[in-house]
Amino acid sequence: MPRADMKEKEIRYDYTNMLGEAVGSHGVSQPELDEVSRRSKEVFETLKRQRGDGKLGFMDLPYDETAVGAAMKAAAALEKRFENLVVLGIGGSALGTIALKSALVDPFHNLMDSKARGGRPRLFVLDNIDPDLIASVMSLVKPEKTLFNVVTKSGGTSETISQLVIFHEAMEKALGDDADEHFIATTDPKKGDLRKMAGDLGWKTLDIPPNVGGRFSVLTAVGLFPAAMLGIDVRQLLSGAASMDRRCEGHEVGANPAFAYAALQYALYRKGTNISVVMPYSSALFDVADWYRQLWAESLGKKATVTGEIVNVGPTPVKSLGATDQHSQVQLYAEGPYDKSITFIEVGTFGKTVTIPKGLSNYEEAAYLSGRTVNELISFEKKGTEVALTAAGKPNGTLFVPEISAFTVGQILYFFEMATAISGALYRINAFNQPGVEAGKIAAYALMGRKGHEDRRAEIEGFFKRPRRTV
Ligand code: PA5
Repeated sequence: MPRADMKEKEIRYDYTNMLGEAVGSHGVSQPELDEVSRRSKEVFETLKRQRGDGKLGFMDLPYDETAVGAAMKAAAALEKRFENLVVLGIGGSALGTIALKSALVDPFHNLMDSKARGGRPRLFVLDNIDPDLIASVMSLVKPEKTLFNVVTKSGGTSETISQLVIFHEAMEKALGDDADEHFIATTDPKKGDLRKMAGDLGWKTLDIPPNVGGRFSVLTAVGLFPAAMLGIDVRQLLSGAASMDRRCEGHEVGANPAFAYAALQYALYRKGTNISVVMPYSSALFDVADWYRQLWAESLGKKATVTGEIVNVGPTPVKSLGATDQHSQVQLYAEGPYDKSITFIEVGTFGKTVTIPKGLSNYEEAAYLSGRTVNELISFEKKGTEVALTAAGKPNGTLFVPEISAFTVGQILYFFEMATAISGALYRINAFNQPGVEAGKIAAYALMGRKGHEDRRAEIEGFFKRPRRTV
């Protein structure tokens, strides 16, 4: 993309209404912002050290030609062969793919016929072990027309492995030895049982770099392979991420969008504004907010600092949808407690323009709408909410997205990833581990009888033997 076009397609973070001068005492005052800004040297030294320690692998992804090449090559060989692509995975191994699909393909892609889908497969991402969901996918997809992409960084997450065993058995029953042609594993290059299974059964494989954690992995083969299968321009995704990476080099709030976002969120958190709402005025970007919810919560919700001080910190991320939630959550945002900041995501130009026709314009409730577009309506509704929240003293910012494309979505994802890494440094916590999540995995192993987890099982069973109070 020529430089001038790139500039035009840059997303912008407008934080005017996060400041005290716009929203009064509940916003960030200049001295509070200065206080966070003064930690810039410490923050960027921390990131440099973490990068050296191999914790910030996500920062290399926008430039990883080998990974994008491998994902594209695998997709080119498989994309037209299958009617369905089923992603088996959970959490960071699923949410990025869901966000990419929602943002960048038709919302009803799975309901379209093959021609309308350009011969591309339908995509189902399980992201859970709900028995009804699994049974429903099982009955929907025809074995001979289905490819399973099993995704797990650790190679042993019980939800993913159980999905895999269920579908592998069903595929073997239906297709015999040919079943293994229908599996592609995305996992650590060396570690874990999934890697072993793939080797033993001859499945195709894609790598997740060891230094990229699950929730930061959307721009690895985890997200790139299914995205390429759907015809999403994955090179443009990475190019968007790279352009955001270059804009995040500055060490000042005014020169680095991700630092600005992290610094303002952190300054508000310290004042008790501990809920961080992300509210796209776009259905397509709603799952980006869901992906953010995991990224922000799992990275920043921590008991201790890196030096072991017990702090129990963490902002609570909330996803919200405009204009839908104007008829639901916004009442609370406007008049409820001063414990939230709202980040709107505003789209400049939608893919389509829908005009409200002149019919029914003899009725007053329809007359003022006639001849206008819903594009204007959604944009004005966002503006109206922004004005109302600002007047109510509720801090809010806007991530302005000129259009929804692979290039802008790449920027958004990288912006939030970078803001998360910076926030970790501000909170002085490790944003790249997840002991709380691991504890849940161990509890599942223990209760399901996995060897080596007998003691934990006894503890949990003891917990449930206590007398219960129920009504
Ligand atoms: O961000 C994370 O590390 C987690 O949310 C993981 O993505 C999730 O637990 C799934 O792990 P895995 O990819 O190892 O199956």
